[in-house]
Amino acid sequence: MSTVTTVERLGNHVGETVTLRGWVYARTSKGKLHFVQLRDGTGYVQCVVFKRNVSEELFDAVAGCGQESSVELTGEVKADERAPGGYEVGVSEGRVLQAVSEYPITPKEHGADFLLSRRHLWLRSKRQWAILRIRDAVITALRGFFDERGFICVDSPMFTPAACEGTSTLFEVDYFDDEKAFLTQSGQLYAEASALAFGKVYCFGPTFRAEKSKTRRHLTEFWMLEPEVAFADLDDVMQLAEDMLVHVVKEVLRRRQPELAALERDVSKLECITGGFPRITYEEASKILLEHPDSEFVAGDDLGAPDETILSEMHEQPVMITRYPKNVKAFYMKEDPEDPTKVLCVDVIGPEGVGEIIGGSQREENLETLLASIAAHELPQEEFDWYLDLRRFGSAPHSGFGLGLERTVGWICGIEHIREASPYPRMMTRIRP
Ligand code: 4AD
Ligand code: MG
Repeated sequence: MSTVTTVERLGNHVGETVTLRGWVYARTSKGKLHFVQLRDGTGYVQCVVFKRNVSEELFDAVAGCGQESSVELTGEVKADERAPGGYEVGVSEGRVLQAVSEYPITPKEHGADFLLSRRHLWLRSKRQWAILRIRDAVITALRGFFDERGFICVDSPMFTPAACEGTSTLFEVDYFDDEKAFLTQSGQLYAEASALAFGKVYCFGPTFRAEKSKTRRHLTEFWMLEPEVAFADLDDVMQLAEDMLVHVVKEVLRRRQPELAALERDVSKLECITGGFPRITYEEASKILLEHPDSEFVAGDDLGAPDETILSEMHEQPVMITRYPKNVKAFYMKEDPEDPTKVLCVDVIGPEGVGEIIGGSQREENLETLLASIAAHELPQEEFDWYLDLRRFGSAPHSGFGLGLERTVGWICGIEHIREASPYPRMMTRIRP
């Protein structure tokens, strides 16, 4: 019996005979040779089936293997510098579990709609393999970063009775006894309660937005990681956000080189993410935009996607924009003591035109000011009664932010549309498969 291993671990088995279990990614045959590109989820390797070295039965079975046939191949691992990945397997035994012909996704170009409708199969393509393995490394790096710094993961609920980011973008669901519930837009309000219980916390889970946006940056369901820190001010969480992004990029560069290569990612664009992110205020940003010939920015408005692109293209690293006008931001943000028309908030705009990857702020900790803000935003005060308790019992300064996972993965992978950064993307026009 030979050892069963994975493509990722072939380096530990050079000169040994091992068994790989996977699928035929591609096959070319020449006379007495079959070259099988085997994929097993961990990587890709060429397996050479030479007629003289295998049974006639196996040789003929491999001849009938189209793309995505499932196989088990046993053979000697050879280090080969010319081979992609650096190894090759000289097959001596094996079996075909299912020979497939006419797999719908071929190496030729397919349209986005065609592929999205077959997402359950499209996941097997090399590009998707690379993106979703990078997503995995990003998640591991994020959790490791917060764990090392003494944060506790306290997750927020998905079913909520009220809005967090504004009422217009909520998905309503039927709850029991004629009650309505909403799918959460952000775990923040609960994370604030958790922070006042545990000090430094984060929640990490799916969030939902019913906004009717069909852009390459919008999903209706996406994952958000939200740290919340008691006694922290805006500057503290801006530094936290910067350290976090630097750590995540470094970890992806350390652990996912084959995947970045498969995406033909220009890694120099990631290697320069070393910290010292440019920080500008909204006022400074608006000055730049108002003087920019391509900008349609109107003073006092929120920044639009084209404005963010203009600002991000001026820098190699993410840009942090602080202190937006109060009226374009959420009710819970703390007023800027130096300018009551502004709030102590930050948006982090990713490089290369990905747009906003992080939104955060210092939170209003004064009960009266917060009550006034809830009223000004025309939110139902009774739904926030529990949240207001946080300002009644041991109120303290606290701050946090939310990182959009798919936008972050999209940026790191250098992909155009963030739908590929989600295993099963949900968008305005798509809920299947
Ligand atoms: O800026 P947002 O709306 O902030 C919040 O929800 C705060 N409550 C977070 C907090 O302070 N705890 O969203 C945060 C991030 C954005 O910067 C963006 O990366 C991502 O979530 N995001 C989306 N990603 C994909 N599709 C959408 N429709 C998104 N909306 C926001
Ligand atoms: Mg935002």
